[in-house]
Amino acid sequence: MGKLPVPVETYPIVAIIGGAVVGAGWYLARLAQGPEVVWDRKNNDIKQGQTRQVVAQPPLSGAVLPDTSLYHSLNPYFPYNREITEKSRNHSSSPTLTMFSKRIINSAANGCKRSLTSKAIPASYYRNQQASSTDGFIGAIGNTPLIRLNKLSEETDAEILGKAEFMNPGGSVKDRAALGLVLDAEEKGLLKAGGTVVEGTAGNTGIGLAHVCRARGYKCVIYMPNTQSAEKIDLLRMLGAEVHPVPAVAFDNPQNYNHQAKRHADSIPNAVWTNQFDNPDGNRAIHIHTTGPELWLQTNGTIDAFTCSTGTGGTFAGVTNYLKSMNSDIGCYIADPPGSVLASYVQTNGEKMDRDGGSITEGIGQGRITENMTVDVKKADGAFTVPDSDSIAMLYRLLDEEGIYLGASSALNVAAAYKLAKDLGRNEDGTKRKIVTILCDGAYRYQSRLFSRKWLESKGLVDAIPQHLQKYIILE
Ligand SMILES: Cc1ncc(COP(=O)(O)O)c(C=O)c1O
Repeated sequence: MGKLPVPVETYPIVAIIGGAVVGAGWYLARLAQGPEVVWDRKNNDIKQGQTRQVVAQPPLSGAVLPDTSLYHSLNPYFPYNREITEKSRNHSSSPTLTMFSKRIINSAANGCKRSLTSKAIPASYYRNQQASSTDGFIGAIGNTPLIRLNKLSEETDAEILGKAEFMNPGGSVKDRAALGLVLDAEEKGLLKAGGTVVEGTAGNTGIGLAHVCRARGYKCVIYMPNTQSAEKIDLLRMLGAEVHPVPAVAFDNPQNYNHQAKRHADSIPNAVWTNQFDNPDGNRAIHIHTTGPELWLQTNGTIDAFTCSTGTGGTFAGVTNYLKSMNSDIGCYIADPPGSVLASYVQTNGEKMDRDGGSITEGIGQGRITENMTVDVKKADGAFTVPDSDSIAMLYRLLDEEGIYLGASSALNVAAAYKLAKDLGRNEDGTKRKIVTILCDGAYRYQSRLFSRKWLESKGLVDAIPQHLQKYIILE
């Protein structure tokens, strides 16, 4: 045996020095990873600390939430299907969302050369992150972020918050409706394995349905007015749907796209016309079960007002129904594009349905009271028309000031929230009002129109865009 490099008597000293070196190395590595974060429930914020559990705040004690077992079975993160008691509100039996700790994320980056330190990442990034995968496409629908629109909030006496529905996996708020319509048809036994879903849709519901149908093994057939953007029609076909663009005629004409969709479904076996306009069980209900509770949770029940426009009315009706059931003082306001009858209907207590002009917005505006709306339109605290000039100006402002690229119905919704902020002012106790709206989809599906000088000129809208924002009109 060769001679040992150090004498045996020094082994304990070598061991101590070795241990100290390893310990110091571990400590330095941990420092480099940044602190762990903890959910500070009281201040609704994340602070440095020791814990990694996030407890989502359920609605106020005593509230009975809708039975969401069907949705829950598909979306393991869906946290609302329980009766809220004081105990579950305050203790860990509340639904929990596990978030990534900075350490987990950093350890994933170990070995990579990275210039960004964990300290540069805002704490809000770690909030409400779910530490596992979703159950396919359907599990990824909903649970969208609620974005504070900073500039508009600073400029007014309100916190203006937009629900980022453009972040749904199919790109719009209508993914929710598509899911609700299909689940309802399945639950009622109208749709069996390998069946066909037929719908009349201006686009986004069709896109949502095309995705949901592929994910669940159904065929999808879409009828739509031929006035809709080419981008939407192309996308539907790429998603495997059979698309029938038909002349845009009024609802009372038998050739209206909805009636054509119904006739198609009636003519083939194992097919369902999902009837998004007059299907409160599928369309309105999904917003009662998902969008409404999410908004309540995300604001800890502190919403003062909600506003959005309506197409089928599913979003407005479902959210209004849920919010009013939680707190009847929440003001719910319909925002109408020109040419839609709802503003006149609400303003005259249902006596008139006047319509005047038309709008550049797509997917919204209505000439009648749909069945989705019949119950909840009576709960509206008011309604008003937002001119296209306000919507297009807001669309360009949101892009420039917030970096958010939105379609015209979302811009109209934010213009409505902004108007409400100015009209309503602060709460009686002097606090800022919290006004929530829906960011329905992104501008991607409409960019050839919304950013084209020629198209904007043809609509007389170039001058509505402030001079300093006209640099974004980059298409001819
Ligand atoms: C872009 C866009 N915004 C808003 C809406 C209106 O939503 P709802 O049908 O729930 O009233 C739609 C409906 O198709 C839409 O496509």
